[in-house]
Amino acid sequence: MCGIFGYIGKDKKQASLVLEGLKSLEYRGYDSWGIVVNHNGKLKRERHTGKIGQSRTILPESDTAMGHTRWATHGGVTEANAHPHFDCSGRFAVVHNGIIENEKELRKLLIKKGHKFTSQTDTEIIAHLLEEETKKYHGNLSQLVSLIAAKLDGAFALGVMDRDRPSEAVLARFGGPLVIGLTEGYKLFASDPSALLPFTRQVIYLKDREIAWITPDNVEIMSFDNQKKRSSVTTLDWNVEKIKKDGYAHYMLKEIMEQPESLMNTMRGRIDIKGKVKLGGLEAVKDLLRDVEFIRFMGCGTAGYAGMVGAIILQELTPVVSHMEVSSEFNYSQLNWPKNSVAWFVTQSGETADVLISIDKVKSERIIPLGLVNVVGSSVAQRTTAGVYLHAGPEIAVASTKAFTSQIAALAMISCWLRQNRSNGRNGYSKSADLGMSLLKLPLAVAKTLKLRPQVKKLAKLLSGASQILFFGRGVYYPLALEAALKLREVAYFNTIGLPLGELKHGPISAMDKNRPAVVFAPFDKTIDKSRSNIQELLARDIPTFVITDKAGGKKLSDLSCEIIEVPVVHELLGPVTMAVVVQLLAYEMGLLLNRPIDKPRNLAKSVTVE
Ligand code: M6R
Repeated sequence: MCGIFGYIGKDKKQASLVLEGLKSLEYRGYDSWGIVVNHNGKLKRERHTGKIGQSRTILPESDTAMGHTRWATHGGVTEANAHPHFDCSGRFAVVHNGIIENEKELRKLLIKKGHKFTSQTDTEIIAHLLEEETKKYHGNLSQLVSLIAAKLDGAFALGVMDRDRPSEAVLARFGGPLVIGLTEGYKLFASDPSALLPFTRQVIYLKDREIAWITPDNVEIMSFDNQKKRSSVTTLDWNVEKIKKDGYAHYMLKEIMEQPESLMNTMRGRIDIKGKVKLGGLEAVKDLLRDVEFIRFMGCGTAGYAGMVGAIILQELTPVVSHMEVSSEFNYSQLNWPKNSVAWFVTQSGETADVLISIDKVKSERIIPLGLVNVVGSSVAQRTTAGVYLHAGPEIAVASTKAFTSQIAALAMISCWLRQNRSNGRNGYSKSADLGMSLLKLPLAVAKTLKLRPQVKKLAKLLSGASQILFFGRGVYYPLALEAALKLREVAYFNTIGLPLGELKHGPISAMDKNRPAVVFAPFDKTIDKSRSNIQELLARDIPTFVITDKAGGKKLSDLSCEIIEVPVVHELLGPVTMAVVVQLLAYEMGLLLNRPIDKPRNLAKSVTVE
């Protein structure tokens, strides 16, 4: 949540460049935005509420600039609460992503000392703390920031500029992401590496408890206790084309459409033609995983639902007991770990605060944390012992789409790998080889599913007048029902709910009528007859029912008087991938019909970096 972008150079074009950088980070928060420049020995800023849109900056071009796009936590959406924030003297400018938990006490203390606050944000206290510290300390800016960082509780990624040091900026990180872009003659920093791609692919990921002192020609990394640290430079393997809309009206549509490719990228080089899976990222923990008996998957939102699908697939393939737990619930409950357990964190961004807290918790419980992460070098990638990268490419739309399908594919690969590597494999390798080979056919099946868009559009029209939509599924399709409900709530602001199909008669059906239709995921599998009966029960009560099935299921259900959408037949455990494409298109089309801001739904942000 919140995006930070900064530029330290010598060629006086920073303000407009920072504005462009902020535009590419706006999906992280879009309540308000602002930029500060150091111009002729003065800090000058502009701040605005609302989205950046086509705005141009009114600031003069100068040597150092940084900006911020906000997702409000402390204080409403007002210009005064927009970042950057200044101290009383206008010497320090601060941009911040995260939450300062001891804000109240610090604010009280600073007010007592005579500081005047102009906003309700927690960020402003940092500027005043810097001002206060300079009364007794006159070291360089990075040392000053390290003194302040030690006083802050909570999570933060900070960018600081000092009026009296015009060609430098200092960053500090504890919890929030920050990446530094390296080029000849100027340096950049951003909350997300994708914002740096138009300028450079050489980056340094700032780690927790690190401070970076940046000048146009140099980057120095220090720990919070002022020890010099070696920085390692990473080359980004995404290219700039990946972060453009490519002629699509929205990122969400682009990301839905690129799923055949993103799935291929997730599987590339990892499955051979006999279906054997190789996952280099797990080699370091191969021995540990050989006899693992319990895996608790954790994550939030869409990633959590992918984890639920993964937990079911794993149990179909191996004797490992597995379960998915929502991170925010896990963090404040006392759940037991049986012998030989590991925790596996599923996250697109790798920056979700609840997930990071879960990692700290499992470490304190002496459980090994593993990751399934899309963003290379993200906090989760750094804090887990080993794991698998998703390689789905940058996901910009707030609604997660291609990450979900890649997460399911990756979890299926992990299940195959675990089965292959067990010391006492169950039924040999054939079951995992079968799933491995089926995975290879998924991109084509997804490409065919994308062609169903006109049918899905029709379905969206039929559903758009409903007062509530209930999604139902069994087995791996129950998490898909939850994901469908989330996608429609998020993108179309629609009143939805996801339920296990077998629960229909245990309550939900009493609240259903012609304005509260059902969408049932009913593929051809061992439960098709049960699903058919449930659909008939709905139809018998005149409840409009829409079925999403596969071609084989379509034959079995074709005599029922309901709308049916048929996706291609895939492995029975992989159906949530093809059907997720229908769900995503449905949410997109409904969002369009209802005129929603598809890529940036109200009140949301792409990565949730606060609890
Ligand atoms: O980056 P993460 O995968 O950890 O994000 C988790 C959720 O915040 C995320 O999936 C959220 O639910 C999406 N906006 C759903 O589309």
